[in-house]
Amino acid sequence: MTVLTRRGLLKSAAVAGAGGIGLSAMGRLGGWAAAKPEPVVLQTAKIQAKLMDVGQTRDVLTYGNAGMPPVLRMKKGEPFAARLVNAIDDPTTIHWHGVRVPNKMDGVPFLVQPYVYTGDHFDYAFTPPDAGTFWYHPHCNTLTQMGHGLTGVIVVENPSDPKFDAEMVLNLRDWRLGDDGQFIDQFRPRDAARTGTYGTVRTANWLDQPQYDAPAGGLARLRVAITDVTRIYAFRVDGADATVIALDGNPVPRRFSPDALLLGPGQRMELAIRMPDEEGAIVSLRDVRGTKPKVLATLRATGGSLKRDVRDLAPLEANPVAEVDITSAQHISLALSATAENVPSDGICGSLGYSFWAINKVPWPGDTSDPTAPLAELKLGKSYVIDMENLTPQSHPMHLHGMSFKVLSSSTRQVQPLISDTYLIEPNEKVSLGFVADNPGDWLLHCHIIEHQKSGMTSYVRVV
Ligand code: C2O
Ligand code: CU
Repeated sequence: MTVLTRRGLLKSAAVAGAGGIGLSAMGRLGGWAAAKPEPVVLQTAKIQAKLMDVGQTRDVLTYGNAGMPPVLRMKKGEPFAARLVNAIDDPTTIHWHGVRVPNKMDGVPFLVQPYVYTGDHFDYAFTPPDAGTFWYHPHCNTLTQMGHGLTGVIVVENPSDPKFDAEMVLNLRDWRLGDDGQFIDQFRPRDAARTGTYGTVRTANWLDQPQYDAPAGGLARLRVAITDVTRIYAFRVDGADATVIALDGNPVPRRFSPDALLLGPGQRMELAIRMPDEEGAIVSLRDVRGTKPKVLATLRATGGSLKRDVRDLAPLEANPVAEVDITSAQHISLALSATAENVPSDGICGSLGYSFWAINKVPWPGDTSDPTAPLAELKLGKSYVIDMENLTPQSHPMHLHGMSFKVLSSSTRQVQPLISDTYLIEPNEKVSLGFVADNPGDWLLHCHIIEHQKSGMTSYVRVV
């Protein structure tokens, strides 16, 4: 399904080289860059899908009509267009998680665009500036829409990437299904006030523990996106040497082994896996968090050994993210807490009707355009540092739209200066995230455990 052979990769790189002419040439020949790409049609659909042995699950939502939402492939620096056609009986939008798009393309209803109602469409167009692994999902009634299937992976290719022998993409997520294979209540309030409500069926690419082939002794690139609404993973790879080469769409400054690496909803990881030399050998990617560890997917070595060496992999090219100026940066304090205060729920865009969480003591009513003022107003082009503190006993994957930040320091652990859009802040942790406010507009800042997001832990910053 989403497996590319080395030949396929070389071919697509070749296409980029010829058709894309390269970025510098595109700048000079402005007309070329302006050529409009054919839009990818993303039509929402309600389908049946086989997620459990007992039979088909009804009311599964997807884009297209053939199982999991497609993996969207874009090219760094080249225009991309998609038409969202809404064919389900619920308003929707698409947010391009981690992709730095113009504000009008960000997919947050009311804040930046109107609802796309049943039967309507909306045209998205942008040029992804960064290469890496990203994902897309609605930003409306998200617990239901994402919970029922509307989460897809985006790969932004860079023709200058080092060559791998195989590439796989894994979309990791759960489903809340009963024994009969049908959806049960998407959340339980007492769980929403804690870690969030976990799914009952766990999948990778909508399958239970799928297996993919990769050449023996070869280098496989495994792109993993956590698109679940709740679950935090701790990754481990058995049966081969694995190296984390990118996180959240950006190369890591220092590569490391994913030794129980913790990542939360919204986050992505790219692994370089040196496949075993022996034909038939199995490599497994496991989640070792909590009481029920699980093999998520396996890779099987095929053919004679290619005898490659992971140390020969050239570093991935850094993305063009502006460097934060720490000396001039203004600091924004952000305290994440629980709240007892109940705000009236106006139901806009699927509020859960509860408020359990707060940012700077304000339980935000949801992704609304209501009079709630932005958390902060930022000056275009200036540097900022978010000093975020987690006062709760839970971890929160905090996601900033529209701009990438650099992880500057943490009070509880050694951190690399990662560039990211989602930071998993642990209990009692204080973290400093620096960024340049270089993208004008209103940008959400929220927890990506959707029940937390929808019950108070959402806010936004305004860049003018
Ligand atoms: Cu992945 Cu506001 O979203
Ligand atoms: Cu949270």
